[in-house]
Amino acid sequence: MTCTPVSLLVTGGAGFIGSNFIHSYMANNPLCMVTNLDCLTYAGNLKNLTAVEENPHYRFVKGDIGDAALVAEILASRRIDAVVHFAAESHVDRSITGPELFVRTNVLGTQVLLEESRKHWQSGVVPDFRFLQISTDEVYGSLGDTGYFTEETPLAANSPYSASKAGADLLVRAYHETFGLPTLNTRCSNNYGPYHFPEKLIPLLIHNIINEKPLPVYGDGLNVRDWLHVRDHAVAIETVLKKAVPGSVYNVGGNNEWKNIDIVNLVCDLLDGRLGRPEGKNRALISFVKDRPGHDRRYAIDASRLTSDLGWSPSYTFEEGIAETIDWYLAHQEWVADVTSGAYLEYYQVQYNRGAA
Ligand code: NAD
Ligand code: DAU
Repeated sequence: MTCTPVSLLVTGGAGFIGSNFIHSYMANNPLCMVTNLDCLTYAGNLKNLTAVEENPHYRFVKGDIGDAALVAEILASRRIDAVVHFAAESHVDRSITGPELFVRTNVLGTQVLLEESRKHWQSGVVPDFRFLQISTDEVYGSLGDTGYFTEETPLAANSPYSASKAGADLLVRAYHETFGLPTLNTRCSNNYGPYHFPEKLIPLLIHNIINEKPLPVYGDGLNVRDWLHVRDHAVAIETVLKKAVPGSVYNVGGNNEWKNIDIVNLVCDLLDGRLGRPEGKNRALISFVKDRPGHDRRYAIDASRLTSDLGWSPSYTFEEGIAETIDWYLAHQEWVADVTSGAYLEYYQVQYNRGAA
């Protein structure tokens, strides 16, 4: 049985995945209403949403997910029938230098949303209510050379970021088991694509190569990540929201594993030609630096449940997705300049002070 929510509360919609989801969902569902609640941290940028800001079906509210009164007011006044919860502190490195904010936003903030959602749903105004928690494969910890994370893999988070996401996932489960709140939970692998903040690996590489800055590769560069285009993730989220049975958990991934150093070399080579530089020039920027503490070795997602139950599969090949992403960044240098000012530069300095490997 499918349901089509008509009034969505999207949290963290000014960030990377949230903004891509809003574009995708509003294009596919032109009659729906979307309320975007975002407090605009360093990672949130309203320029990610200029294409929808004049749309009467879209509203932006600047505010914190931890503000219970504000969340309650939005849920009631807009008769929200689905919460799609992206808002989070999302960068592993920042969680190592400052874990407290991750607990406050990712754990306590999620609890506030769940509690206000419970009251809203129990009021009976919106019987078909759904709460979708957007989570990460990092809650499962790290894999060896073989095997995949399934939805049954025990949670074994290793960083303060992933621990805070695992804590939030368990609260979501508890609100379903204890109160019957119709919750859903997705756990996705690494995303790439437009509007990705340039502190994360792929946009950082593109940004630094363009500016001929060093490319910091942590440790031996042999850690493995499973990359999925953000628009494929957006479609997966819409699919789960509309088709999944409350209480269910779905992994999302592209079956697309890469060693970090191979991604770094690929992005270098693709940019050689585009920037008119001699072949191999960009690889000279690679700089091995000290490893991230607690660095998970390998992530690989088994997303077969999502395919067999709900019919989702990724549409991008990595070859086309990465080429399109590089071209997007080259064409959006103004956006990059805008988001890489202020706090970003301060943080960046910390990264460079890590020292050589
Ligand atoms: P992001 O850092 O780009 O964006 C996070 C957004 O949340 C920002 O707009 C920020 O302003 C907002 N926000 C932060 N704290 C808030 C608060 N207290 N109240 C309101 N808004 C707040 O993150 P992202 O990469 O788009 O990730 C979105 C979600 O998807 C996160 O929950 C993350 O754990 C999850 N996820 C990310 C990836 C990935 O590869 N980026 C993969 C799997 C899952
Ligand atoms: O797997 C999903 C997760 O993917 C999400 O939950 C997180 O929100 C998202 O940030 C991402 O986490 P990672 O830690 O995998 O992404 P990041 O881009 O920070 O790093 C990717 C890999 O590249 C990782 O092995 C660390 C390495 N790395 C990263 C940076 C920023 C480098 O070698 N150099 C770098 O400068």
